[in-house]
Amino acid sequence: MQRFKNRFALITGGTNGMGYATARQFINEGGTAIITGRSNETVSNAVKELGPNALGITSNAGSMKDILQLQDQVRQHTNRIDLLFANAGYAKFAPLENGDEAHFDELFNMLVKGTFFTVQQMLPLMKKGSAIVLNTSVVTDMAVLNFSVYTAAKSAVQSFIKSFAAECTDKGIRVNGISPGYISTNGFNNTGLSQEQIAGAIQSIIPTIPFKRFGEPTEIAHAVLFLASEEAAYIHATELKVDAGVSTIGQ
Ligand SMILES: NC(=O)c1ccc[n+]([C@@H]2O[C@H](COP(=O)([O-])OP(=O)(O)OC[C@H]3O[C@@H](n4cnc5c(N)ncnc54)[C@H](OP(=O)(O)O)[C@@H]3O)[C@@H](O)[C@H]2O)c1
Repeated sequence: MQRFKNRFALITGGTNGMGYATARQFINEGGTAIITGRSNETVSNAVKELGPNALGITSNAGSMKDILQLQDQVRQHTNRIDLLFANAGYAKFAPLENGDEAHFDELFNMLVKGTFFTVQQMLPLMKKGSAIVLNTSVVTDMAVLNFSVYTAAKSAVQSFIKSFAAECTDKGIRVNGISPGYISTNGFNNTGLSQEQIAGAIQSIIPTIPFKRFGEPTEIAHAVLFLASEEAAYIHATELKVDAGVSTIGQ
């Protein structure tokens, strides 16, 4: 299938995990993907792996300075974006008793401010028929211990789905979200847990997932690209859960 021939995607956090898988699939279906990440090294390695239809921009979603440069940086490659996948980020644990201001600001700057201003900056490049997909999380439906700040930040992103959709309707831009369940990525490495704790957490989570396995990044990519495609032309202001039912019927 070549659903995205001559189309451009901006995928924030595209050097790894779900963002990378989405970029790879977008390219496989004929498009050009511009990916971001925090370091020149991760961005250039991913661009090399993704091949000639990948472009990279080093940009930190937690930095207003970087976000305000993003539009000009994208314009060096294209003056139109057909898919914006606002995906950059990670989760981090902090118990209520000792979550500090730095923890709060790190997550809210990157996930909430980052998403809001990235979308704002890309809007002038998005025309009728284009699509925005925001990455939320299964945690918005649950109470995961020590995750209150991350959950609040992702819940704010979830609220953007509706409000951005309302504001983008007249522009002909569809806005939706995906809510990934537990996905097999490097995301756990940012949580602040040791490798031993990560292995223990994974083993305790698996039995709670109806399919008894973590999802694969490609399974998220399929959902994002469906929402970006013509097949989803009547889907707007909604959040698609890609979580094997864990948020609804998990144990
Ligand atoms: N894995 C899960 O189970 C899960 C579940 C629900 C939601 N999510 C969400 O899914 C999104 C993608 O995570 P993932 O699981 O695919 O993790 P991942 O494999 O660690 O990928 C995260 C990506 O985001 C980039 N990134 C992180 N912080 C960034 C920042 N401040 N500015 C720009 N880029 C940044 C990373 O690039 P660099 O390292 O190159 O900067 C990397 O490309 C995140 O928003 C995460 O919260 C994950």
